[in-house]
Amino acid sequence: MTTTFTDETRERAREIIARYPADRSRSALLPLLHLVQSEEGYVSPAGVTFCAEVLGLNKAQVGAVATFYTMYKRKPTGDFLVSVCTNTMCNVLGGQEVYDTLSEHLGVGHDETTADGTITLEHAECLAACDYGPVMTVNYDFFDGVDPSTAVGVVDELRAGGRPMPTRGARLCTLKEMAVQLAGFADERDGAVADGGPGEATLRGLRLAQEHGVSVPGFDPNTPIRSKAEADKEAAKAKAAAEAAKPATPVQSGDATGKAGTGERTPAAAATGSTAPDVKAPDDKSPQVRAAETRQPDAETAVPDAPGTKVPAETSPPGPRDARKAEAAGVAANEPAGDGKPAGDSTDAQERNLTEASASADGANNAAATETGAQK
Ligand code: FES
Repeated sequence: MTTTFTDETRERAREIIARYPADRSRSALLPLLHLVQSEEGYVSPAGVTFCAEVLGLNKAQVGAVATFYTMYKRKPTGDFLVSVCTNTMCNVLGGQEVYDTLSEHLGVGHDETTADGTITLEHAECLAACDYGPVMTVNYDFFDGVDPSTAVGVVDELRAGGRPMPTRGARLCTLKEMAVQLAGFADERDGAVADGGPGEATLRGLRLAQEHGVSVPGFDPNTPIRSKAEADKEAAKAKAAAEAAKPATPVQSGDATGKAGTGERTPAAAATGSTAPDVKAPDDKSPQVRAAETRQPDAETAVPDAPGTKVPAETSPPGPRDARKAEAAGVAANEPAGDGKPAGDSTDAQERNLTEASASADGANNAAATETGAQK
């Protein structure tokens, strides 16, 4: 099944997985679903299989996530996904009229695609731009304050091969190209990120803060934003420095099958076919461990939460907790699936449950028999 995906997609999959701690790779599922959608235009059965294989999940687990979020499409989608907000605010301002007009003009209903494969139309719930209503998006870029005639103008231009400029944000790309960005890869088009500024309603809070002299202490608005390439370079440098600081360990030989020494290839490396080394920031603790350590740096003494957080009063001080032990116990109790069974559903557990159930049934029968005997 995975043969349907290109080498580029496999390499990108590996890059996405490498962004997460090794024992938390299943967190990469959301961007991976966008990635497979970027190749096929929707999350196909092959895409579900691919994600399950690279993450060691079963297909039911991947399918449960893919069918929960509306951004993952379950059937082939047009080049341009036109979403019209028909939620309360937009509806009051004419959103339903916009949707109905487009539906009639294009000859398609909700979640349907025009015969030429250009446009897929959908109703959308609140698109978080109520102050610009009624709004519609094309591949998640906003067209604010639309009416039936401007909306029809946008779709006609798209079908004629044009690229109307959204009101805000970067210039339009196809849905597949947008899925690459949603998977966490930069928009590589020249100057694309410099397109379109935020709308005035979005900036209103900023203007008020400036007017009243409200600012975040120590924040420099001119702090440069690092590009991904710069961030990757710094992460690789930090990782190399951390490796160099470690005590030397015996070097194990590798072979052409992709096995390094006695270590097996990770599921991600095996599925993506890549042998390139992982580049990951050195701090690869799980979020739970990091949060626990932040709350209790010495794991001996409870520390209060951030100012403003209400900490429930305790009558006795909490006992010492070891975040790492708690994490290890949690992981041991929740083994990853990947063998077709639901996570944690081990044969041992099933046997134990069955034994306990039959023991308690026997107990109940014996008690009933005793009671019946006593009555006699
Ligand atoms: S109701 Fe349409 S964006 Fe919120």
